[in-house]
Amino acid sequence: AVLDDMRGKRVLITAGKTVEAIDPVRYITNHSTGKMGYALAQEAVERGAEVTLISGPTDLPKVPKVKFIPINTTSEMAREVNRCFEQIDIVVMAAAVSDYRVEKPATQKIKKKSDTLEMKLIKNVDILKDLGRKKKKQILVGFAAETQNLRENAARKMQEKNLDLLIANDVSRRDIGFGSDQNEVLFLRPGHEPLLIGKNDKKKIAQRVFDCIMDF
Ligand code: PMT
Repeated sequence: AVLDDMRGKRVLITAGKTVEAIDPVRYITNHSTGKMGYALAQEAVERGAEVTLISGPTDLPKVPKVKFIPINTTSEMAREVNRCFEQIDIVVMAAAVSDYRVEKPATQKIKKKSDTLEMKLIKNVDILKDLGRKKKKQILVGFAAETQNLRENAARKMQEKNLDLLIANDVSRRDIGFGSDQNEVLFLRPGHEPLLIGKNDKKKIAQRVFDCIMDF
């Protein structure tokens, strides 16, 4: 079906992983490939939205007609998200954001010496939580990547971050979540019963996400 229901909507999507340096040659990251976020960007642009995609490093091809902003670190993602935010109607944060970074990344490659090596990590900003505090008319959508107590942990994130929709996925499963072409998710909305969206292609999940948002 050709849909144009998102014409005029300005949508910001984050996708992929963030990368935090340990030294010039090593880093801390996670398993996100960007597939979920890119599927969301593709779906929104097909429905006529004006889409900005802020993305960590991925192997995926760029999505045509989407404004692309590459980032590496959580701080860079925060800066770019905040720069766009006021001009945006809908934010969907599918990126897997590092909660911590190395406090003082080494400026030179760390040499092998003692049997143990200690590294101090410090907390990054919670980008979505900050948006939740300052949002005006924006619709805020987050993902929750959980390995246990999916519903409870996700419900807490929805509240803490003041979200309009939270999409929870079980990232302990190999057939969905990180890297897979498919996902199975639970939609949580304030004042609504949780809704399970059964296993399907990420593009189909993306369609259900924007169907839900456009129905608000
Ligand atoms: O990229 P794929 O391989 O397709 O995998 C998809 C996915 C598993 C990465 C995706 O479906 C997903 O779950 N994305 C969210 C990953 C995540 O960071 O979840 P979280 O539960 O740690 O964070 C909750 C929300 O807060 C997320 O929307 C996240 O973007 C945001 N966040 C988290 C930490 C932080 N410091 N700032 C944030 O804004």
